[in-house]
Amino acid sequence: MSKPRVIVTRRWPAEVEARLKELYDVQLNTDDRPMTGGELQDALRGADALLPTVSDKITAVVLSAEPLKTKILGNFGVGFNHIDIAAAKGRGLVVTNTPDVLTDCTADLAMTLLLMIARRAGEGERHVRTKAWTGWRPTHMIASKITGKTLGLVGFGRIARAVSTRAHHGFGMKILFHDPYPPPKEAADAVMATQCDTLEEVLEQADFVSLHCPGGQETRHLMNAERLKRMKATAFLINTARGDVVDEQALVAALKSGTIAGAGLDVYESEPRVGDDLLTLDNAVLLPHLGSATRDTRIAMGMRVLENVETFFAGKPPRDRVG
Ligand code: DGY
Repeated sequence: MSKPRVIVTRRWPAEVEARLKELYDVQLNTDDRPMTGGELQDALRGADALLPTVSDKITAVVLSAEPLKTKILGNFGVGFNHIDIAAAKGRGLVVTNTPDVLTDCTADLAMTLLLMIARRAGEGERHVRTKAWTGWRPTHMIASKITGKTLGLVGFGRIARAVSTRAHHGFGMKILFHDPYPPPKEAADAVMATQCDTLEEVLEQADFVSLHCPGGQETRHLMNAERLKRMKATAFLINTARGDVVDEQALVAALKSGTIAGAGLDVYESEPRVGDDLLTLDNAVLLPHLGSATRDTRIAMGMRVLENVETFFAGKPPRDRVG
């Protein structure tokens, strides 16, 4: 029997690519150039499985490719707002993602941003590298204390809970959260978290606000000018979720005017483009979408895609089906 044809849209860890070669008639993307809409459509016409990731815009137009051969989109990543799920369903496609395996590393990165922005680590590093440092002094680069402060989580899913564990048990932080789909009581109790009925309650009380909701139409610009104003002037915003959850223009204005103290960002509205305004602000720490970017986690993500695709080709329901 011939092997299923599988097309991978970006470079994957070598270990996972090797396994793909063993299992499938696979087309890898060795030069890692993002595929165009036309190339994605060709892939949908030619492959049994297409394995995309966040940098691929799988729109309704892309999904209108004819004749459609693909039966499964095995997404590399937990977030899937770059895939039009309704259109994929309409075309009879199964869509899967990679939850769980990236929870810890993404939570670690949210804490990295929180620590960096509060303690002015990016700014301090630039200070040393540009040879501006003249020596220790009691008033130099005074920053904000983290231990014992209040962390507000927007969404209380897997990653938010992992952040709350680190923040509460590691830094003695008080945890607040708002989630329209409330978690089991034990999850909140494990970090003595207080559930708030509204997002505004979280924003008004938190010293750090960390975003952990999905991207997409429902949460687009959730953090707009008005909500940024609800935050304390001394508070910091952390975003490891999706760029479009924050109105970036409103954020730049809030950072410039002192409406909030700072922001730690891993994701951006028009990724990979980062606006010049943000680039010049010292009260922003900017990372290039590194949440899950550790060797262990990226291998685990790839293997999880393989598990989903293998299960599907074995005629069984894949465990991470999202559409
Ligand atoms: C995720 O898994 O959602 C990461 O942000 C990469 O897509």
